[in-house]
Amino acid sequence: MTQRSAAPRPVRADGAPSVGPAGHRTPSFQEMWRELLPVGRHPDSGGYRRYAWTGADAECRAWFKEQAEARGLAYEVDRNGNQWAWLGDPTAGDAVVTGSHLDSVPDGGAFDGPLGVVSSFAALDELRGRGTRFDKPLAIVNFGDEEGARFGLACVGSRLTAGQLTVEQAHRLTDADGVTLPRAMEAAGYDPDAIGADPERLARIGAFVELHVEQGRALDLSGDRVGIASAIWPHGRWRFDFRGEANHAGTTRLVDRRDPMLSYAETVLAARREAALAGAVATFGKISVEPNGVNAIPSLVRGWLDSRAADQGTLDTVVGGIEKAAREYADAHGIDLDVVRESFTPVVEFDHALRDELGRLLGKDTGLTVPVLGTGAGHDAGILSGSIPTAMLFVRNPTGVSHSPAESAAEDDCLAGVHALADVLEGLART
Ligand code: GLV
Ligand code: MN
Ligand code: MN
Repeated sequence: MTQRSAAPRPVRADGAPSVGPAGHRTPSFQEMWRELLPVGRHPDSGGYRRYAWTGADAECRAWFKEQAEARGLAYEVDRNGNQWAWLGDPTAGDAVVTGSHLDSVPDGGAFDGPLGVVSSFAALDELRGRGTRFDKPLAIVNFGDEEGARFGLACVGSRLTAGQLTVEQAHRLTDADGVTLPRAMEAAGYDPDAIGADPERLARIGAFVELHVEQGRALDLSGDRVGIASAIWPHGRWRFDFRGEANHAGTTRLVDRRDPMLSYAETVLAARREAALAGAVATFGKISVEPNGVNAIPSLVRGWLDSRAADQGTLDTVVGGIEKAAREYADAHGIDLDVVRESFTPVVEFDHALRDELGRLLGKDTGLTVPVLGTGAGHDAGILSGSIPTAMLFVRNPTGVSHSPAESAAEDDCLAGVHALADVLEGLART
């Protein structure tokens, strides 16, 4: 199918406003960024709390729909709640898709996710300004619940679509207040009975390219604004339930206690030790305690381990070592321990041909080689890589900080990311 963009538009080499198909001015990168900035931002922490199917999420979704409509793109929500904005015929096949996510971790930064979505709309505006002819359909996507902050499982929207999460598993997901995913979707006006694998949709996509803020400092150290992803470390989440006996904090002798907090604390230290030994990472970043009273010995300490390593064997060794240590500590304190793997994503090696094509497209005018980087962070592009060719672009992050309100990227670097994405989309959509 041949899709010709509307007549060449006056545009932006610098993120300046563009003009949509109906002759309306479309918001610039900076305007889109400013509009999204207050949504879901906590006034005290300055961090974002954009959790799946909440009010903040709904505001982000409304913003996405507005951007699609402002550009005359065909807007749709798929069976799993992912949002799509299409230029050209979605059923034509071999589509070039870009996008990312708009949800956040608890007190996340502004860039992780939204940079990819805002850059996608800005890149499309740039291409229209260049008068680019598209020989393939192009789409921008906002994948739902990428961070898994509310229901504990990351990339729910893309996992469902790719058939990596069954409907039964998804229906069992429950948030900290006991609200299940189906009830949360219903409350947000979506049909939880419609969810499930969507191979027909994936079969229509020729390539997916996700732009993302770098979550490390490799580009800062190499002095590059933009990089290309090579691989994602294998990673997973494990729940450790330490069960002891609730009792009075003032009257129970130390020797009589079965305090699960002790085994938990020792396990946190073991995680650090095992990860350091293996050159991997391991983090207990979330904990829940029952009954959670200052003057009560806990009956239950539930801690979630996130661990990642360069290869599967190393990750198995690290998590195996942590679990072994946890069992020894639990035995020593009379604690019952259950360890449950809640999610796992194997190593992702991004499609080599697509990666090389991105390198060629980005280097063709300058002759420069764009750095290729691995990452320990998970992404929807990683989930989809099992089904379709996927690639990622990273934009420099001067501090490397991410999943924190301090996450940052310079405006010039963001705009360089938009240009790079436009070059890539142009090259992929014209062949
Ligand atoms: C998502 O950002 C993850 O890596 O956990
Ligand atoms: Mn993230
Ligand atoms: Mn992300």
